[in-house]
Amino acid sequence: MKDFLTKYNRPGPRYTSYPPAPYFNEQFTPDDYRESVIASNSEEPPSISIYIHIPFCPQLCYFCGCNTGKPKDPGDIKRYADALKEEIKMVSGLLDKNRPVTQIHWGGGTPNSIPYEYISGIMELLKAEFKFHKKIEVAIECNPAYLSPENAGELAGMGFNRVSLGIQDFHGEVLEKVNRLPSAMPAEELVKHLRKSGFEGVNLDLMYGLPGQTPPVYTDTIKKAISLSPDRIVTFSYAHVPWFNPSMKKVEKFGLPSTGEKFNLFNTGYNLLTSAGYIPVGLDHYALPEDELSLALKERKLHRNFQGYCTKETTGQVYAFGSSSISQLWNAYSQNSKDYIRYIEKIEKGKFATERGYRLNRREIITREVINSIMCNGHLNFSDIARNFGISVDELKELLSYNQGSLDEFIEDGLVEIEGEELNVTRRGMLVVRNIAMAFDFMIDGRQQRYSKTI
Ligand SMILES: C[S@@+](CC[C@H](N)C(=O)[O-])C[C@H]1O[C@@H](n2cnc3c(N)ncnc32)[C@H](O)[C@@H]1O
Ligand code: SF4
Repeated sequence: MKDFLTKYNRPGPRYTSYPPAPYFNEQFTPDDYRESVIASNSEEPPSISIYIHIPFCPQLCYFCGCNTGKPKDPGDIKRYADALKEEIKMVSGLLDKNRPVTQIHWGGGTPNSIPYEYISGIMELLKAEFKFHKKIEVAIECNPAYLSPENAGELAGMGFNRVSLGIQDFHGEVLEKVNRLPSAMPAEELVKHLRKSGFEGVNLDLMYGLPGQTPPVYTDTIKKAISLSPDRIVTFSYAHVPWFNPSMKKVEKFGLPSTGEKFNLFNTGYNLLTSAGYIPVGLDHYALPEDELSLALKERKLHRNFQGYCTKETTGQVYAFGSSSISQLWNAYSQNSKDYIRYIEKIEKGKFATERGYRLNRREIITREVINSIMCNGHLNFSDIARNFGISVDELKELLSYNQGSLDEFIEDGLVEIEGEELNVTRRGMLVVRNIAMAFDFMIDGRQQRYSKTI
Protein backbone atom coordinates (compact mmCIF):
# COMPACT_ATOMS: atom_id res chain seq x y z
CA MET A 1 0.00 0.00 0.00
CA LYS A 2 2.86 2.37 0.87
CA ASP A 3 4.29 2.03 -2.65
CA PHE A 4 0.87 2.62 -4.14
CA LEU A 5 0.52 5.87 -2.17
CA THR A 6 4.01 7.07 -3.01
CA LYS A 7 3.45 6.33 -6.67
CA TYR A 8 0.11 8.11 -7.02
CA ASN A 9 0.16 10.89 -4.41
CA ARG A 10 1.22 13.81 -6.59
CA PRO A 11 -0.21 17.25 -7.31
CA GLY A 12 -3.18 17.22 -9.64
CA PRO A 13 -6.38 19.13 -10.41
CA ARG A 14 -9.53 18.38 -8.40
CA TYR A 15 -11.47 18.79 -11.66
CA THR A 16 -14.28 20.77 -10.05
CA SER A 17 -14.16 22.48 -13.45
CA TYR A 18 -12.63 21.59 -16.79
CA PRO A 19 -10.33 23.18 -17.65
CA PRO A 20 -9.32 23.80 -14.02
CA ALA A 21 -9.31 27.33 -12.59
CA PRO A 22 -5.55 28.01 -13.16
CA TYR A 23 -6.39 28.14 -16.90
CA PHE A 24 -8.84 31.03 -16.44
CA ASN A 25 -7.39 34.22 -17.86
CA GLU A 26 -7.92 37.96 -17.96
CA GLN A 27 -8.56 38.04 -21.70
CA PHE A 28 -12.09 36.97 -20.75
CA THR A 29 -13.89 40.28 -20.16
CA PRO A 30 -17.24 41.48 -18.74
CA ASP A 31 -18.47 41.75 -22.37
CA ASP A 32 -17.55 38.10 -22.92
CA TYR A 33 -19.57 37.19 -19.84
CA ARG A 34 -22.60 39.14 -21.10
CA GLU A 35 -22.33 37.36 -24.49
CA SER A 36 -22.00 33.94 -22.83
CA VAL A 37 -25.02 34.58 -20.59
CA ILE A 38 -27.15 35.48 -23.62
CA ALA A 39 -25.85 32.45 -25.56
CA SER A 40 -26.55 30.17 -22.58
CA ASN A 41 -30.31 30.61 -23.12
CA SER A 42 -30.15 28.20 -26.05
CA GLU A 43 -27.45 25.91 -24.64
CA GLU A 44 -27.41 22.89 -22.33
CA PRO A 45 -28.72 22.21 -19.75
CA PRO A 46 -31.75 24.49 -20.05
CA SER A 47 -32.35 24.73 -16.29
CA ILE A 48 -30.76 27.38 -14.08
CA SER A 49 -28.59 26.91 -10.99
CA ILE A 50 -27.85 29.98 -8.88
CA TYR A 51 -24.84 30.40 -6.61
CA ILE A 52 -24.64 33.25 -4.09
CA HIS A 53 -21.26 33.85 -2.46
CA ILE A 54 -20.96 35.54 0.94
CA PRO A 55 -17.27 36.38 1.50
CA PHE A 56 -17.53 37.11 5.22
CA CYS A 57 -16.76 35.16 8.39
CA PRO A 58 -16.75 36.54 11.95
CA GLN A 59 -13.64 34.49 12.78
CA LEU A 60 -11.18 32.91 10.36
CA CYS A 61 -10.16 29.24 10.59
CA TYR A 62 -6.46 28.72 9.87
CA PHE A 63 -7.14 25.80 7.53
CA CYS A 64 -9.60 27.66 5.32
CA GLY A 65 -9.26 27.23 1.56
CA CYS A 66 -12.32 29.37 0.74
CA ASN A 67 -12.47 32.94 -0.48
CA THR A 68 -13.45 34.79 2.68
CA GLY A 69 -12.40 37.34 5.28
CA LYS A 70 -13.71 39.71 7.93
CA PRO A 71 -15.65 42.75 6.64
CA LYS A 72 -13.27 45.74 6.52
CA ASP A 73 -16.08 48.04 7.63
CA PRO A 74 -19.38 47.06 9.34
CA GLY A 75 -21.35 48.88 6.61
CA ASP A 76 -19.74 46.69 3.94
CA ILE A 77 -22.18 43.80 4.47
CA LYS A 78 -25.19 45.92 3.54
CA ARG A 79 -23.36 47.43 0.55
CA TYR A 80 -22.41 43.93 -0.55
CA ALA A 81 -25.99 42.61 -0.20
CA ASP A 82 -27.24 45.56 -2.29
CA ALA A 83 -24.61 44.81 -4.94
CA LEU A 84 -25.75 41.17 -5.04
CA LYS A 85 -29.29 42.33 -5.76
CA GLU A 86 -28.09 44.61 -8.54
CA GLU A 87 -26.02 41.86 -10.11
CA ILE A 88 -29.00 39.45 -9.97
CA LYS A 89 -31.15 42.01 -11.81
CA MET A 90 -28.42 42.59 -14.44
CA VAL A 91 -28.18 38.88 -15.22
CA SER A 92 -31.86 38.04 -14.99
CA GLY A 93 -32.52 40.79 -17.56
CA LEU A 94 -30.51 38.73 -20.06
CA LEU A 95 -32.09 35.37 -19.31
CA ASP A 96 -35.03 33.60 -20.89
CA LYS A 97 -37.68 33.74 -18.13
CA ASN A 98 -39.13 30.38 -19.17
CA ARG A 99 -36.02 28.55 -17.97
CA PRO A 100 -36.71 27.02 -14.55
CA VAL A 101 -34.42 27.43 -11.54
CA THR A 102 -33.73 23.95 -10.14
CA GLN A 103 -30.99 24.77 -7.62
CA ILE A 104 -29.95 27.68 -5.42
CA HIS A 105 -26.83 27.41 -3.31
CA TRP A 106 -25.58 29.93 -0.76
CA GLY A 107 -21.92 29.43 0.08
CA GLY A 108 -18.98 31.30 1.44
CA GLY A 109 -17.61 32.32 3.75
CA THR A 110 -20.41 32.00 6.27
CA PRO A 111 -23.77 32.97 4.78
CA ASN A 112 -25.54 32.38 8.11
CA SER A 113 -23.39 35.02 9.83
CA ILE A 114 -24.87 38.02 7.98
CA PRO A 115 -28.10 39.76 9.09
CA TYR A 116 -31.04 37.63 8.00
CA GLU A 117 -32.92 40.58 6.50
CA TYR A 118 -30.29 40.63 3.72
CA ILE A 119 -30.73 36.91 3.04
CA SER A 120 -34.52 37.19 2.92
CA GLY A 121 -34.36 40.31 0.71
CA ILE A 122 -32.27 38.43 -1.84
CA MET A 123 -34.48 35.34 -1.68
CA GLU A 124 -37.55 37.53 -2.35
CA LEU A 125 -35.82 39.12 -5.32
CA LEU A 126 -34.92 35.69 -6.75
CA LYS A 127 -38.55 34.58 -6.42
CA ALA A 128 -39.70 37.71 -8.22
CA GLU A 129 -37.14 37.49 -11.05
CA PHE A 130 -37.16 33.76 -11.82
CA LYS A 131 -39.47 30.81 -12.29
CA PHE A 132 -38.71 28.23 -9.58
CA HIS A 133 -39.02 24.53 -10.43
CA LYS A 134 -41.50 22.76 -8.12
CA LYS A 135 -38.74 20.47 -6.86
CA ILE A 136 -36.16 23.24 -6.42
CA GLU A 137 -33.28 22.58 -4.03
CA VAL A 138 -32.37 25.63 -1.94
CA ALA A 139 -29.20 24.99 0.07
CA ILE A 140 -27.09 27.00 2.48
CA GLU A 141 -23.66 26.36 4.02
CA CYS A 142 -23.85 27.12 7.73
CA ASN A 143 -21.27 27.34 10.46
CA PRO A 144 -23.05 25.84 13.52
CA ALA A 145 -21.20 28.23 15.82
CA TYR A 146 -23.67 30.90 14.64
CA LEU A 147 -26.87 28.86 14.33
CA SER A 148 -29.76 28.82 16.84
CA PRO A 149 -33.10 26.95 16.70
CA GLU A 150 -34.81 30.25 15.80
CA ASN A 151 -32.37 30.72 12.90
CA ALA A 152 -33.24 27.26 11.60
CA GLY A 153 -36.94 28.19 11.51
CA GLU A 154 -36.25 31.55 9.84
CA LEU A 155 -34.12 29.99 7.09
CA ALA A 156 -36.74 27.32 6.41
CA GLY A 157 -39.37 30.09 6.24
CA MET A 158 -37.33 31.79 3.49
CA GLY A 159 -37.45 28.60 1.40
CA PHE A 160 -34.19 26.84 2.32
CA ASN A 161 -34.65 23.06 2.32
CA ARG A 162 -31.05 21.77 2.52
CA VAL A 163 -28.25 22.74 4.88
CA SER A 164 -24.57 21.81 5.03
CA LEU A 165 -23.29 22.10 8.58
CA GLY A 166 -19.56 22.75 8.82
CA ILE A 167 -18.69 20.45 11.70
CA GLN A 168 -15.09 19.61 10.63
CA ASP A 169 -14.48 17.75 13.91
CA PHE A 170 -16.57 17.38 17.08
CA HIS A 171 -13.58 17.82 19.40
CA GLY A 172 -12.93 21.20 20.98
CA GLU A 173 -9.17 20.59 21.18
CA VAL A 174 -8.94 20.06 17.39
CA LEU A 175 -11.09 23.14 16.65
CA GLU A 176 -9.06 25.26 19.05
CA LYS A 177 -5.84 24.46 17.19
CA VAL A 178 -7.36 25.77 13.96
CA ASN A 179 -9.00 28.87 15.51
CA ARG A 180 -12.56 27.63 15.12
CA LEU A 181 -15.49 27.94 17.52
CA PRO A 182 -17.53 24.81 18.33
CA SER A 183 -21.24 24.49 17.55
CA ALA A 184 -23.37 26.94 19.58
CA MET A 185 -25.62 24.07 20.69
CA PRO A 186 -25.12 20.30 20.79
CA ALA A 187 -25.12 19.07 17.20
CA GLU A 188 -27.82 16.44 17.89
CA GLU A 189 -30.23 19.15 19.08
CA LEU A 190 -29.36 21.38 16.16
CA VAL A 191 -30.06 18.60 13.66
CA LYS A 192 -33.41 17.90 15.37
CA HIS A 193 -34.38 21.59 15.13
CA LEU A 194 -33.40 21.74 11.46
CA ARG A 195 -35.51 18.68 10.65
CA LYS A 196 -38.47 20.00 12.67
CA SER A 197 -38.22 23.32 10.84
CA GLY A 198 -38.66 21.57 7.51
CA PHE A 199 -35.13 20.97 6.19
CA GLU A 200 -35.43 17.88 4.00
CA GLY A 201 -31.68 17.57 3.53
CA VAL A 202 -29.10 17.79 6.29
CA ASN A 203 -25.44 17.38 5.31
CA LEU A 204 -22.45 17.35 7.62
CA ASP A 205 -19.03 18.57 6.45
CA LEU A 206 -16.09 16.91 8.17
CA MET A 207 -12.38 17.22 7.50
CA TYR A 208 -9.51 14.80 8.03
CA GLY A 209 -5.82 15.64 8.30
CA LEU A 210 -6.28 18.49 10.82
CA PRO A 211 -3.86 18.87 13.74
CA GLY A 212 -4.78 16.75 16.75
CA GLN A 213 -6.94 14.37 14.71
CA THR A 214 -5.41 11.12 15.93
CA PRO A 215 -7.10 7.91 14.69
CA PRO A 216 -9.23 7.57 17.91
CA VAL A 217 -10.29 11.23 17.71
CA TYR A 218 -11.30 10.92 14.05
CA THR A 219 -13.05 7.58 14.67
CA ASP A 220 -15.10 9.24 17.40
CA THR A 221 -16.02 12.13 15.10
CA ILE A 222 -17.21 9.79 12.35
CA LYS A 223 -19.22 7.67 14.80
CA LYS A 224 -20.88 10.76 16.22
CA ALA A 225 -21.68 12.03 12.71
CA ILE A 226 -23.30 8.67 11.87
CA SER A 227 -25.35 8.77 15.08
CA LEU A 228 -26.99 12.00 13.87
CA SER A 229 -28.26 10.22 10.69
CA PRO A 230 -27.59 13.06 8.25
CA ASP A 231 -28.57 12.45 4.62
CA ARG A 232 -25.03 13.14 3.48
CA ILE A 233 -21.62 13.28 5.11
CA VAL A 234 -18.64 14.82 3.36
CA THR A 235 -15.14 13.98 4.56
CA PHE A 236 -12.89 16.59 2.99
CA SER A 237 -9.22 15.79 2.88
CA TYR A 238 -7.48 18.85 4.36
CA ALA A 239 -5.85 20.57 1.39
CA HIS A 240 -2.76 22.26 2.77
CA VAL A 241 -1.99 25.05 0.30
CA PRO A 242 -0.25 27.82 2.31
CA TRP A 243 0.67 29.64 -0.91
CA PHE A 244 -3.09 30.27 -1.33
CA ASN A 245 -3.83 31.07 2.34
CA PRO A 246 -0.70 31.89 4.40
CA SER A 247 -2.59 31.38 7.70
CA MET A 248 -2.40 27.64 6.94
CA LYS A 249 1.24 27.91 7.98
CA LYS A 250 -0.03 28.31 11.56
CA VAL A 251 -1.21 24.70 11.66
CA GLU A 252 2.23 23.40 10.63
CA LYS A 253 3.61 23.85 14.16
CA PHE A 254 1.29 21.07 15.40
CA GLY A 255 2.61 18.69 12.74
CA LEU A 256 0.63 17.45 9.78
CA PRO A 257 -0.09 13.76 9.15
CA SER A 258 2.05 11.89 6.63
CA THR A 259 0.45 10.60 3.43
CA GLY A 260 0.13 7.14 5.00
CA GLU A 261 -1.46 8.49 8.18
CA LYS A 262 -3.88 10.57 6.18
CA PHE A 263 -4.77 7.60 4.03
CA ASN A 264 -5.49 5.56 7.16
CA LEU A 265 -7.87 8.27 8.36
CA PHE A 266 -9.59 8.18 4.98
CA ASN A 267 -9.92 4.40 5.26
CA THR A 268 -11.27 4.64 8.81
CA GLY A 269 -13.97 7.01 7.59
CA TYR A 270 -14.72 4.88 4.56
CA ASN A 271 -15.07 1.66 6.55
CA LEU A 272 -17.20 3.14 9.33
CA LEU A 273 -19.50 5.01 6.97
CA THR A 274 -20.03 2.17 4.52
CA SER A 275 -20.59 -0.30 7.40
CA ALA A 276 -23.27 2.07 8.67
CA GLY A 277 -24.98 1.85 5.26
CA TYR A 278 -23.76 5.07 3.64
CA ILE A 279 -22.96 4.86 -0.08
CA PRO A 280 -19.63 6.39 -1.14
CA VAL A 281 -20.23 9.02 -3.81
CA GLY A 282 -17.31 10.37 -5.82
CA LEU A 283 -14.15 11.31 -3.97
CA ASP A 284 -15.35 12.32 -0.56
CA HIS A 285 -19.14 12.23 -0.25
CA TYR A 286 -21.27 9.59 1.48
CA ALA A 287 -25.04 9.48 1.13
CA LEU A 288 -27.89 7.37 2.53
CA PRO A 289 -28.96 4.70 0.01
CA GLU A 290 -32.29 6.44 -0.72
CA ASP A 291 -30.64 9.85 -1.19
CA GLU A 292 -30.86 11.19 -4.73
CA LEU A 293 -27.04 11.25 -5.03
CA SER A 294 -26.86 7.50 -4.34
CA LEU A 295 -29.66 6.87 -6.83
CA ALA A 296 -27.99 9.07 -9.45
CA LEU A 297 -24.70 7.21 -8.95
CA LYS A 298 -26.49 3.90 -9.53
CA GLU A 299 -27.86 5.22 -12.81
CA ARG A 300 -24.53 6.87 -13.67
CA LYS A 301 -26.21 10.26 -13.72
CA LEU A 302 -24.09 11.89 -11.05
CA HIS A 303 -22.79 15.34 -11.84
CA ARG A 304 -20.52 17.86 -10.16
CA ASN A 305 -20.10 21.60 -10.07
CA PHE A 306 -18.09 23.95 -7.84
CA GLN A 307 -20.78 23.55 -5.17
CA GLY A 308 -20.33 19.78 -4.92
CA TYR A 309 -21.99 16.64 -6.27
CA CYS A 310 -25.47 16.91 -7.71
CA THR A 311 -27.70 15.03 -10.11
CA LYS A 312 -28.07 15.69 -13.81
CA GLU A 313 -31.76 16.49 -13.11
CA THR A 314 -31.12 19.29 -10.61
CA THR A 315 -27.99 20.79 -12.13
CA GLY A 316 -28.43 23.67 -14.49
CA GLN A 317 -25.92 26.03 -15.98
CA VAL A 318 -24.63 27.94 -12.94
CA TYR A 319 -25.06 31.73 -12.73
CA ALA A 320 -22.91 32.88 -9.84
CA PHE A 321 -23.27 36.12 -7.90
CA GLY A 322 -20.86 37.85 -5.57
CA SER A 323 -17.12 38.33 -5.28
CA SER A 324 -14.89 35.46 -6.45
CA SER A 325 -17.93 33.46 -7.59
CA ILE A 326 -17.61 31.40 -10.77
CA SER A 327 -20.41 31.06 -13.31
CA GLN A 328 -20.31 27.72 -15.10
CA LEU A 329 -22.05 27.95 -18.45
CA TRP A 330 -22.06 25.53 -21.37
CA ASN A 331 -19.39 27.40 -23.26
CA ALA A 332 -17.62 29.48 -20.62
CA TYR A 333 -16.49 30.00 -17.05
CA SER A 334 -16.56 33.52 -15.68
CA GLN A 335 -15.12 34.55 -12.32
CA ASN A 336 -15.89 37.79 -10.52
CA SER A 337 -13.31 39.94 -8.80
CA LYS A 338 -11.99 38.19 -5.68
CA ASP A 339 -11.74 41.51 -3.83
CA TYR A 340 -15.23 42.21 -2.49
CA ILE A 341 -14.72 46.00 -2.45
CA ARG A 342 -13.70 45.97 -6.11
CA TYR A 343 -16.71 43.73 -6.83
CA ILE A 344 -19.09 46.22 -5.12
CA GLU A 345 -17.56 49.21 -6.93
CA LYS A 346 -17.95 47.58 -10.35
CA ILE A 347 -21.58 46.59 -9.73
CA GLU A 348 -22.44 50.01 -8.26
CA LYS A 349 -21.28 51.50 -11.59
CA GLY A 350 -23.67 49.18 -13.42
CA LYS A 351 -20.86 47.00 -14.80
CA PHE A 352 -20.24 43.27 -14.51
CA ALA A 353 -17.42 42.41 -12.08
CA THR A 354 -15.89 39.68 -14.28
CA GLU A 355 -12.14 39.56 -13.72
CA ARG A 356 -11.16 36.38 -15.50
CA GLY A 357 -12.67 33.40 -17.19
CA TYR A 358 -12.39 30.92 -19.98
CA ARG A 359 -14.27 30.28 -23.19
CA LEU A 360 -14.30 26.59 -24.07
CA ASN A 361 -13.90 25.27 -27.59
CA ARG A 362 -15.68 22.13 -28.73
CA ARG A 363 -12.73 19.86 -27.97
CA GLU A 364 -12.61 21.16 -24.40
CA ILE A 365 -16.39 20.80 -23.96
CA ILE A 366 -16.15 17.15 -25.03
CA THR A 367 -13.15 16.52 -22.76
CA ARG A 368 -15.08 18.10 -19.85
CA GLU A 369 -17.86 15.55 -20.41
CA VAL A 370 -15.34 12.68 -20.36
CA ILE A 371 -13.55 13.91 -17.23
CA ASN A 372 -16.85 14.55 -15.39
CA SER A 373 -18.03 11.06 -16.22
CA ILE A 374 -14.84 9.52 -14.79
CA MET A 375 -14.68 11.77 -11.72
CA CYS A 376 -18.38 11.44 -10.78
CA ASN A 377 -19.45 8.01 -11.96
CA GLY A 378 -16.12 6.14 -12.18
CA HIS A 379 -17.29 5.16 -15.61
CA LEU A 380 -16.78 6.11 -19.22
CA ASN A 381 -18.69 4.87 -22.24
CA PHE A 382 -16.94 6.10 -25.36
CA SER A 383 -19.93 5.21 -27.58
CA ASP A 384 -22.44 7.17 -25.45
CA ILE A 385 -20.32 10.29 -25.35
CA ALA A 386 -19.48 10.11 -29.06
CA ARG A 387 -23.20 9.74 -29.86
CA ASN A 388 -24.13 12.72 -27.64
CA PHE A 389 -21.76 14.92 -29.61
CA GLY A 390 -22.64 13.46 -33.02
CA ILE A 391 -19.16 12.04 -33.72
CA SER A 392 -17.69 8.56 -34.10
CA VAL A 393 -15.79 6.76 -31.33
CA ASP A 394 -12.61 7.09 -33.39
CA GLU A 395 -13.12 10.83 -33.72
CA LEU A 396 -13.74 11.07 -29.96
CA LYS A 397 -10.53 9.17 -29.18
CA GLU A 398 -8.59 11.38 -31.55
CA LEU A 399 -9.98 14.53 -29.90
CA LEU A 400 -8.91 13.19 -26.51
CA SER A 401 -5.45 12.25 -27.85
CA TYR A 402 -6.43 8.90 -26.33
CA ASN A 403 -3.72 6.34 -26.04
CA GLN A 404 -4.73 3.14 -24.29
CA GLY A 405 -1.07 2.59 -23.40
CA SER A 406 -1.28 5.51 -20.96
CA LEU A 407 -3.77 3.43 -18.96
CA ASP A 408 -1.64 0.25 -18.84
CA GLU A 409 -0.22 1.09 -15.44
CA PHE A 410 -3.70 1.72 -14.00
CA ILE A 411 -4.91 -1.58 -15.46
CA GLU A 412 -1.89 -3.50 -14.09
CA ASP A 413 -2.44 -1.94 -10.64
CA GLY A 414 -6.11 -2.99 -10.68
CA LEU A 415 -7.41 0.57 -10.81
CA VAL A 416 -9.14 0.53 -14.18
CA GLU A 417 -10.96 -2.16 -16.19
CA ILE A 418 -11.68 -1.82 -19.89
CA GLU A 419 -14.20 -3.87 -21.80
CA GLY A 420 -15.07 -2.93 -25.38
CA GLU A 421 -15.97 0.75 -25.41
CA GLU A 422 -16.49 0.92 -21.64
CA LEU A 423 -14.04 1.90 -18.94
CA ASN A 424 -14.74 1.35 -15.25
CA VAL A 425 -12.73 2.64 -12.31
CA THR A 426 -12.43 0.03 -9.54
CA ARG A 427 -13.01 0.74 -5.83
CA ARG A 428 -9.23 1.01 -5.36
CA GLY A 429 -9.03 3.18 -8.49
CA MET A 430 -11.54 5.67 -7.04
CA LEU A 431 -8.88 6.53 -4.43
CA VAL A 432 -6.76 7.99 -7.20
CA VAL A 433 -9.52 8.95 -9.63
CA ARG A 434 -7.90 12.37 -10.12
CA ASN A 435 -4.80 10.64 -11.50
CA ILE A 436 -6.97 8.56 -13.84
CA ALA A 437 -8.84 11.64 -15.08
CA MET A 438 -5.48 13.32 -15.77
CA ALA A 439 -4.79 10.65 -18.40
CA PHE A 440 -7.69 12.09 -20.45
CA ASP A 441 -6.67 15.72 -20.01
CA PHE A 442 -4.95 16.76 -23.23
CA MET A 443 -4.18 20.20 -21.75
CA ILE A 444 -2.24 18.96 -18.72
CA ASP A 445 1.03 20.86 -18.42
CA GLY A 446 3.47 22.32 -15.87
CA ARG A 447 0.68 23.95 -13.85
CA GLN A 448 0.30 20.79 -11.71
CA GLN A 449 2.62 22.10 -8.98
CA ARG A 450 -0.07 24.65 -8.09
CA TYR A 451 -2.54 21.92 -7.18
CA SER A 452 -2.99 20.01 -3.92
CA LYS A 453 -1.85 16.36 -3.81
CA THR A 454 -4.28 13.77 -5.09
CA ILE A 455 -4.55 11.75 -1.84
C1 LIG B 1 -17.18 27.44 2.58
S1 LIG B 1 -16.70 26.31 3.71
C2 LIG B 1 -17.94 26.23 4.94
C3 LIG B 1 -18.97 27.00 5.36
C4 LIG B 1 -18.86 27.56 6.76
N1 LIG B 1 -18.10 28.75 6.68
C5 LIG B 1 -18.21 26.64 7.76
O1 LIG B 1 -17.02 26.76 7.98
O2 LIG B 1 -18.93 25.85 8.38
C6 LIG B 1 -17.10 24.72 3.04
C7 LIG B 1 -16.32 23.57 3.59
O3 LIG B 1 -15.07 23.50 2.97
C8 LIG B 1 -14.21 22.69 3.77
N2 LIG B 1 -12.86 23.26 3.74
C9 LIG B 1 -12.48 24.52 4.04
N3 LIG B 1 -11.14 24.65 3.89
C10 LIG B 1 -10.66 23.46 3.47
C11 LIG B 1 -9.37 22.95 3.12
N4 LIG B 1 -8.27 23.72 3.18
N5 LIG B 1 -9.26 21.66 2.74
C12 LIG B 1 -10.36 20.87 2.65
N6 LIG B 1 -11.60 21.28 2.96
C13 LIG B 1 -11.76 22.55 3.36
C14 LIG B 1 -14.80 22.69 5.17
O4 LIG B 1 -15.26 21.37 5.48
C15 LIG B 1 -15.98 23.62 5.05
O5 LIG B 1 -17.08 23.23 5.85
S1 SF4 C 1 -13.99 27.26 7.17
FE1 SF4 C 1 -15.90 28.43 7.09
S2 SF4 C 1 -15.90 29.67 8.97
FE2 SF4 C 1 -13.85 28.94 8.70
S3 SF4 C 1 -12.83 30.63 7.64
FE3 SF4 C 1 -13.51 29.14 6.09
S4 SF4 C 1 -15.45 29.84 5.41
FE4 SF4 C 1 -15.01 30.91 7.35
